[in-house]
Amino acid sequence: MSKGYLLYNSVESKILISDITNLDSIITHKGKVLINNDLINNLKHYGQKVFTTKGKFYYILKPTYKDIILKINRTTNTINSKDIAHILVNTSINKNSKVLEIGTGSGAFSLFLSHFINKVILSIDINFKNLKNSVSNIKKYGDIDYVLTLLIENKLNKLPIKSKTYFDAIIIDLAEPYIYLDLIVSVLKDGGDLVFLVPNVEQVKQSREIFAKSGFVYFRTYELIEREWLIREVGSRPHEKYLNHSIFLTFAKKIKN
Ligand SMILES: C[S@@+](CC[C@H](N)C(=O)[O-])C[C@H]1O[C@@H](n2cnc3c(N)ncnc32)[C@H](O)[C@@H]1O
Repeated sequence: MSKGYLLYNSVESKILISDITNLDSIITHKGKVLINNDLINNLKHYGQKVFTTKGKFYYILKPTYKDIILKINRTTNTINSKDIAHILVNTSINKNSKVLEIGTGSGAFSLFLSHFINKVILSIDINFKNLKNSVSNIKKYGDIDYVLTLLIENKLNKLPIKSKTYFDAIIIDLAEPYIYLDLIVSVLKDGGDLVFLVPNVEQVKQSREIFAKSGFVYFRTYELIEREWLIREVGSRPHEKYLNHSIFLTFAKKIKN
C-alpha cells in the first residue's frame, strides 16, 4: 500500500504529504490548510475534501507511486517511474524474489519494490549521504523492513555478508555496470535477471558485449518515451512538457556456465 497523502485540487495544484506531526499548517497554492483535529480525522478517510484559509478545497487522495517518485528528496538522479514499471514486466521478479540493487541513489527503486516484495531487497552504494537520504525516503514512502542498505567500498567482488546469497534479480544503475561483473556472476542465480540502466548507447553496446561473453543471453534494450495528453473540449494535444530521454534499460538472463 502506498503511504502518505496527496492533497489534490487540480493537476497543477497537488501536494504530497507524509508526516504532519510537527506542522501547524500545510501551505498550498490556494491558501493554508490548518492542521487541527478536523483535518486529522479527515486524513483517516481518503476521498474527503479539506478547505484552505482562502475557502478553496483539496481532496485527500492516496498518492500513486508516480506522485511519490516525483517528489522524494533527491541527492542523485533517480529511476523514472515509467522505467521502473518496465523493469517489472521484463523480468521474472515476484513477491518471493531476492533482489540486489547496485547504486541505491535516492532509493526510488527500492522504495517502490518494497511495496511488492516479501523478501529483503539488498541495496548497496558507495556514498553515505545518498544512503542516508534513501533510508529517509524509504521510511516515509516505502517499507524499510524490506530494504537493507549497505555502504560499500568503491567496487566489490564479494558481498560483505556471511552466507552465500543467490539473487533472483540484480538491478544496476551505474554507467559502467560491468565493473561489477565478477560479483554479479557469483551471486546471481542461473536463469536470474540482470537489469542495467545506462545513459548512452555506447555504454549499452560495451556492457552488452562484456556480459554476453560472461554467460548472459536474451538481451533486450529499450528506451521508453511517455507522452501525457491534455484532453480538452477543443484542442486536445500532447502535453508540451514531457521527458524525452531518461535512460537506456537493458535486460538479460544468466545461463549456467
Ligand atoms: C543514478 S544513482 C542511482 C539511482 C537509484 N537507482 C534510484 O532510483 O534512486 C547512482 C548511484 O550509484 C552510486 N555509485 C556510484 N559508483 C558506485 C559504485 N562503484 N558502486 C556502488 N554504487 C555506486 C552513487 O553514489 C549513486 O548513489
